[in-house]
Amino acid sequence: MSAPLRKVVFPVAGLGTRFLPASKVVAKEMLPVLDKPLIQYAVDEAVDAGADTLIFITSRYKHAIADYFDTAYELEQKLERSGKQELLAAVRDLIPKHVRCIYVTQSEALGLGHAVLCAKPVVGDEPFGVILPDDLIWNRGAGALRQMAQFAPNPEAGVIAVEEVPREETHRYGIVDADMTSGRAACVRHVVEKPRPEVAPSNLAIVGRYVLPGRIFQLLEKTTPGAGGEIQLTDAIAALLRDGEVHAFRFEGTRFDCGSKLGLVKATLHFALLDPTLAQATRAFVAASF
Ligand code: G1P
Repeated sequence: MSAPLRKVVFPVAGLGTRFLPASKVVAKEMLPVLDKPLIQYAVDEAVDAGADTLIFITSRYKHAIADYFDTAYELEQKLERSGKQELLAAVRDLIPKHVRCIYVTQSEALGLGHAVLCAKPVVGDEPFGVILPDDLIWNRGAGALRQMAQFAPNPEAGVIAVEEVPREETHRYGIVDADMTSGRAACVRHVVEKPRPEVAPSNLAIVGRYVLPGRIFQLLEKTTPGAGGEIQLTDAIAALLRDGEVHAFRFEGTRFDCGSKLGLVKATLHFALLDPTLAQATRAFVAASF
């Protein structure tokens, strides 16, 4: 797409039951991978894709996310007075100056599709990105969302990130039917939310990154509850397919499912091994322990 992706939506209202009891008071998006919360990795990826408007779809239990991106005067003054410039920059420069954050409350947990629909008054009619912060994607070069925005052939096209998953896990994902035998991308023929392995059209799963046209909102408004009794984004994408184009995109990078404990452990190890101050000791610990 020639124009950059200006607006990115972060659906962050979910309860995060897989991380109870911690998520009783800590928003799951605030769980850290080393010293950064998951939401920071997601925001960095959106900014890398060119976003200047970050839209958080939040709930009454998730005030910590807005607090995190807000200025912490007392803390900053203290760090400034004690000359801790590096730490001061770490808490101050979470988002570039030209980027603004908008918070929209999703007052009922009616599903991912409903959460995205809550962004309609802010996004309007333009193409936008969606990042699910549970899916942390690391890449040495361009972030996954930037790769997708650059690939998007026109402002009316949808682009969804996909990755192969084991057959037995199809019931955890939106599953795509597309011929990905050659190249990074392919036109989606069909998409279905959380099918059982025996009826899944493939093992190509939707990962939490989307580039969507503004028209998706009209389709979401008409979407009725689907899998799990929730309004599913996948069902609105299936409707978009009927008279529009949607591309499955295999991004470059490694995805960590940080909505699961194992995914969070793997991400933590991965980033520790990349950090020159931690790599050697982490490697030694792992080698000695197992
Ligand atoms: C959501 C989407 C699903 C997608 C998944 C990726 O499911 O509904 O299509 O595959 O994110 O993480 P959830 O994980 O919210 O149940």
